[in-house]
Amino acid sequence: MSQDLVKLDREPSILILDFGSQYSELIARRIREINVFSLVVSHVIAIDQIRKINPDGIILSGGPNSVYDVFAPKCDKDIFNLEIPILGICYGMQLMVKELGGKVSSSKNQSEYGRAPINIDTTCSLLKSVKDNSIMWMSHGDSIEVLPDNFKKIAHTDKTKYAAISNDKKQLFGVQFHPEVIHSTFGMELIKNFVHDICKSKPDWTTKTFLEEAIPKIQSQVGDKKVLLALSGGVDSSTLAFLLNKAIGNQLTCMFIDQGFMRKGEPEFLMNFFDEKFHIKVEYINSRERFINKLHGITDPEQKRKIIGAEFIRVFEEESKRLGPFDYLAQGTLYPDVIESAGTNIDPKTGERIAVKIKSHHNVGGLPKDLQFKLVEPLRRLFKDEVRHVGKALGLPDEIVRRHPFPGPGLAIRILGEVSNEKLNCLRDADWIVRDEIKRSGLYNEIWQAFAVLLPVKTVGVMGDKRTYSWPVVLRCVSSEDGMTADWSKVPYEILERISNRIVNEVQEVNRVVFDITSKPPGTIEWE
Ligand code: XMP
Repeated sequence: MSQDLVKLDREPSILILDFGSQYSELIARRIREINVFSLVVSHVIAIDQIRKINPDGIILSGGPNSVYDVFAPKCDKDIFNLEIPILGICYGMQLMVKELGGKVSSSKNQSEYGRAPINIDTTCSLLKSVKDNSIMWMSHGDSIEVLPDNFKKIAHTDKTKYAAISNDKKQLFGVQFHPEVIHSTFGMELIKNFVHDICKSKPDWTTKTFLEEAIPKIQSQVGDKKVLLALSGGVDSSTLAFLLNKAIGNQLTCMFIDQGFMRKGEPEFLMNFFDEKFHIKVEYINSRERFINKLHGITDPEQKRKIIGAEFIRVFEEESKRLGPFDYLAQGTLYPDVIESAGTNIDPKTGERIAVKIKSHHNVGGLPKDLQFKLVEPLRRLFKDEVRHVGKALGLPDEIVRRHPFPGPGLAIRILGEVSNEKLNCLRDADWIVRDEIKRSGLYNEIWQAFAVLLPVKTVGVMGDKRTYSWPVVLRCVSSEDGMTADWSKVPYEILERISNRIVNEVQEVNRVVFDITSKPPGTIEWE
């Protein structure tokens, strides 16, 4: 990741050193919510690089290790002499204490997990406006036993003597809890105090400044060359299309490959919206026959995904040759992809870096890295919610900006077993009803994904005087922050009833609707 920093096009105001915490990314998001640009970097970042970036402040993240582990991740100790304010969170705090001469202990009865009220001991700029006795989220096994010189205790909890500490002169702070998680009631106050007041970072990270910086950057990168973009209709590629259209106009060509697995009305909506309404050049590639023929007789989910992925690349290559030549390929890479592929976690047993594995199937529908194009990736510093704001500012409608995630292989992986046109049509109709009713109920924006899955079995039903023998449909509605974990949505019975009635009445081949009440883990969001 540190190499990646060399290519920085905007220096972060707050640098987050990652020690393997599941929350590192969340810290960055929280800081950006208060309009300050922050980046996550590996804890092994060279001190010279930090000097060069010269951030307003540094945060040392939490992490799963104990500071006394043989391979405990560390940062350059000189970081504490840079005269840059530092906030250590959980492991980050313990590391700071150990490196500066204090002591950390790992006695079992000092661990604390979950919500804990904190008691403020002395006034401190870090805890300004944080209410005494308010809840903070604890998650630690080890605790501080002895403070380094010139540090003082500023808060404690029932079980943790040093819940927050400071060295005001050197502007070094530590908290044993996680201010970034939603359960910490005044966590955002603390983050604001650190970022705005202590580090004095300017709140200059906004959609407006992003656009002001991104557009000339794209223009100077691309010059008068031609750019190709594979448009899927999702928020990332749509925002990218609008952004590039604004920056380079008709040097951009979008390619929309219709593999036949889109939802009802989507290809038409997309072409109508981009091509006709906004005059963004979109080449419509109808590959429906090709894809469905390839899936003939295929029932294994992994094989299905591989076939679809490979065919997508083949069509893309053929069509880009036909439409080209193009110099650049635009990709909607987002910041979480950049962080994930950098892999900053450390295996506590071997000390080796663990690259976070992105599930192979999630790359299906994407393009391989070795295509003969140079890349334009103007969204690679953005989180998903920031992309939504940019999309909205550029004029994308809510229909796209707030669209639920949709997998690259589309409905093909929501039809269990062999895919056929008949089943696709059936699922398209059921899926349409699900989305329609969820939107009408006002729940669409609260739910992460709501969709139908078609099962490859038949069940008996009765309609009028006749027995039926048709397919069941599964209704899957989940709430989630990022798709990594999810809970099934508690959709009110009346809405479930309406969806079920409409599906069995309006979709002829379906005679039963069941509701999936499995969380992730152990289930996944998709059924294949
Ligand atoms: P699972 O089913 O693994 O899915 O819980 C997590 C999230 O990823 C989406 N998903 C995909 N997205 N290509 C994609 O672009 C894929 O092949 C793919 N498979 C799953 C899924 O819809 C959910 O949001």
